[in-house]
Amino acid sequence: MIKIALLGYGTIGSGVAEVLKINQESIAKRAGEEIEVKYVLDKRDFPGDPIQAKVVHDYDVIVSDPEVQVVVEAMGGVEPAYTFVKGALLAGKSVTTSNKALVAKHGAELLAIAKEKNVHFLFEASVGGGIPIIRPLNSSLTADEVEEITGILNGTTNYMLTKMTFEGLEFHDVLKDAQARGYAEADPTADIEGQDACRKIAILTSLVCGQQVEFEDIYTEGITQISPADIQYAKAMNRVIKLLATSRKAGNSYCAMVCPMLLPPEHPLYSVNDVFNGIFVHGNVLGDAMFYGSGAGKLPTASAVVADIVDIVKNQGRNIMTAWSSAKLPLLDHKLAVNRFFLRTSESSERILELFKNAELIKVPGILGETGVLTEAMTEEDYEEKAAKLSNVIQMIRVA
Ligand code: HSE
Repeated sequence: MIKIALLGYGTIGSGVAEVLKINQESIAKRAGEEIEVKYVLDKRDFPGDPIQAKVVHDYDVIVSDPEVQVVVEAMGGVEPAYTFVKGALLAGKSVTTSNKALVAKHGAELLAIAKEKNVHFLFEASVGGGIPIIRPLNSSLTADEVEEITGILNGTTNYMLTKMTFEGLEFHDVLKDAQARGYAEADPTADIEGQDACRKIAILTSLVCGQQVEFEDIYTEGITQISPADIQYAKAMNRVIKLLATSRKAGNSYCAMVCPMLLPPEHPLYSVNDVFNGIFVHGNVLGDAMFYGSGAGKLPTASAVVADIVDIVKNQGRNIMTAWSSAKLPLLDHKLAVNRFFLRTSESSERILELFKNAELIKVPGILGETGVLTEAMTEEDYEEKAAKLSNVIQMIRVA
């Protein structure tokens, strides 16, 4: 019997308890042992819920109990999660977490402690919710140099953009709808400003390069500026707008960014809609691979956390090594990335074509006094130099 402790009994923590109950027998069979929740750490009490018998309010009870072998961190945020997780690892307990903020900031250090203590620090649920992506990168794709990872890594914004695309709604109306459905938080900033996707692509890039990629170094734009007019232009170009988090190998480094992009129908992420996530990986020997599924939500995320617990139980007495050192990888400046660009301007067609040779001009019936422009491929630096010569740019969206 393996005894575990849950830190936090919110959506993910209670989901983990539920998954352990729903699939109790098959999980025990696969792990080779029964798994029992011994403690739940939460500030709150849950009167009437059988979990109340396990609730503690003092972390020391958990960290000092030698019977607890696995700690599940499902609190979110960097502190006190970091202090608790570090304390658990130093006490010789394995940890699994769904917390991307914690992993993006302290992943390398926590992995090093886990290695030294011969325990595990696993974080499958921190990226892509229930979709296996961390384990595949760490164990299945180790023969490859990963040259590109591009993902729709945020379910909330994907739901919102899908709704805007299919129902022609305004950003603020779809945000209210996403909040009503429990997809977006009361404070939706991390989702809609791209910060959540930014931490996730920082984690994936760190894993494929084996070094620390600082999320602060990743150029990030959210979806707050996307309007129904942009969606109409996208439709006129037979494209969709998606919030992509992308990381491309460039020499010995990577160029990473998070921003809305226009995707053509042949793009592998074109059909990833609603709250689903999709992650495209290109390896130098593998070629292309796609990972698709439930990227957020209580049970999908808990599924990934419980799979980590099973892995920990199956691999007791050793450390599953993850190559992610704390040496910082300087990223390539995103201004050197080459893309096509779509822009909207009220400038004359002559002037547009003077600056952007061979650009396609797009007109949308009903949108007057401006022109849509689809440029040739160029660096972002070149684009900015040319765009600065226009009298105005109403909108710019990169084209995948
Ligand atoms: N807010 C996140 C999303 C939750 O919408 O994808 C999963 O990390």
